[in-house]
Amino acid sequence: MSSIETVADHPPVAVESSRILIVDDERSMREMLEILLRREGYEVTVAENGTAAISLLQQRPFDMLISDVRMPDISGVEVLRKAKELNPSIIGIMITAYGSKESIQEVLRLQAADYLDKPFNVEELKFRIRKELERNRLQQENVLLKRVLNRSHQFSNIIGASAAMASVFQLVETIAPTSSTVLITGESGTGKELIARAIHFNSPRKDRPFVAVNCGALSETLLDSELFGHVRGAFTGADTNKKGLIEVAEKGTIFLDEIGEMSPLVQVKLLRVLQERKFRRLGGTDEIGADIRILAATNRDLSKMVADGTFREDLFYRINVIPLRLPPLRERSDDVPMLAGHFVSKFAEAMNKPVTGISSAAMGTLQGYAWPGNIRELENAMERAVALEPTTIISAESLPEQLQAHRAVQPQVAASAPAEDFPATGFDLEQHVQHIEREYIAEALRRAGGVKVKAAELLGMSFRSFRYYTKKYNLK
Ligand SMILES: Nc1ncnc2c1ncn2[C@@H]1O[C@H](COP(=O)(O)OP(=O)(O)OP(=O)(O)O)[C@@H](O)[C@H]1O
Ligand SMILES: [Mg+2]
Repeated sequence: MSSIETVADHPPVAVESSRILIVDDERSMREMLEILLRREGYEVTVAENGTAAISLLQQRPFDMLISDVRMPDISGVEVLRKAKELNPSIIGIMITAYGSKESIQEVLRLQAADYLDKPFNVEELKFRIRKELERNRLQQENVLLKRVLNRSHQFSNIIGASAAMASVFQLVETIAPTSSTVLITGESGTGKELIARAIHFNSPRKDRPFVAVNCGALSETLLDSELFGHVRGAFTGADTNKKGLIEVAEKGTIFLDEIGEMSPLVQVKLLRVLQERKFRRLGGTDEIGADIRILAATNRDLSKMVADGTFREDLFYRINVIPLRLPPLRERSDDVPMLAGHFVSKFAEAMNKPVTGISSAAMGTLQGYAWPGNIRELENAMERAVALEPTTIISAESLPEQLQAHRAVQPQVAASAPAEDFPATGFDLEQHVQHIEREYIAEALRRAGGVKVKAAELLGMSFRSFRYYTKKYNLK
């Protein structure tokens, strides 16, 4: 069955507060551009020559490079070439001195870069920057849209590209066409019901009913009638024939949700149906065959409940034919950007608001949070954010407070190089800081047993930033 598709390497939803690198050997020019562009809301970094610029480009991502062409060490064209090599989608704007433009025009065309003659008009520069960034953003959104359209209709609502979710999808594909009983486990909000529906709607039973039963809510007194139905006159008040849930689900699927909450009496009755696949309506004489597929879900540890004697062992084995575990969101933080983007589009459409993306600061906060309420909590957070957001891009301020607080409560690590120890002869601060940084990253990795998501959490940073540092320091 190829109808279950996942979207791999989804780009993050939006390019927000764009990162611009300015390169100019002339100080006044650098400062002017820096102030101007900061004021426009961009994240600005400056470099005073080509060599410094290239080293910055190697260290972190930029959306745009604005460079003087003529510089004493390396020409701006060379910086641009290197920048494109590192990141083909970076936007280049070269500032050319009067008359030098002809000589580099061909290069700029090849590198798909724009240029501006010196002296330039500030308004025009601002306009070009905005236009280029917007064009880039639309291109990215287009890619996203195409991928979404390519996915089958039925599964367009299940998002996940992490390795963990890929194996879930694969298992669903394999077992959906069978009639096997599946026990779906996972913390609250991990998508158990969504997966149960996916199994049903990808099975030959898809045109028959999917009946969800909340086992915790089944009353012991009305149980027989609820599950098996009754005939008229079976008990006081039974003035019509009534089908039970099992009969309603005939030839379809019955979803026994929260099966860990079932009382002992209900467990016995259910076991009988599972064993015999037959039942009788209350007060009725005919035995009715039950052709139903059973899917069950719980956020509790049933094998532990069996050991404690609170869940029947025989019932457990009948239910746990194919176990399917949904990992908590913190074990698949790779999926957070895609899920968050999905929910933003969904709620923006529902609320008719022009919100199109998520700022990188907000995304960092989302990826750094542990999500105890899993996808449901993320969904609620994004609904709230879309409702509150005054601009078109979700900002960190629109996220629930507990997400921000999560970062603030991190215990502070004592600086391991107190400034009093400052060596009299001076020292290379940058190198020293990098050394400390590397040590902490490596130690976090060790403590997390090599699991990057966990290591990132230990350091209160997003998985994305953490991955950047492991690459920078070549740590495995
Ligand atoms: N992979 C996913 N992609 C998109 N939405 C998802 C995904 N997983 C879960 N959701 C959404 O998250 C919410 C919670 O999912 P669901 O109700 O299936 O969780 P659950 O595991 O049954 O939770 P509980 O144990 O609390 O009943 C739903 O709105 C669901 O649509
Ligand atoms: Mg549920």
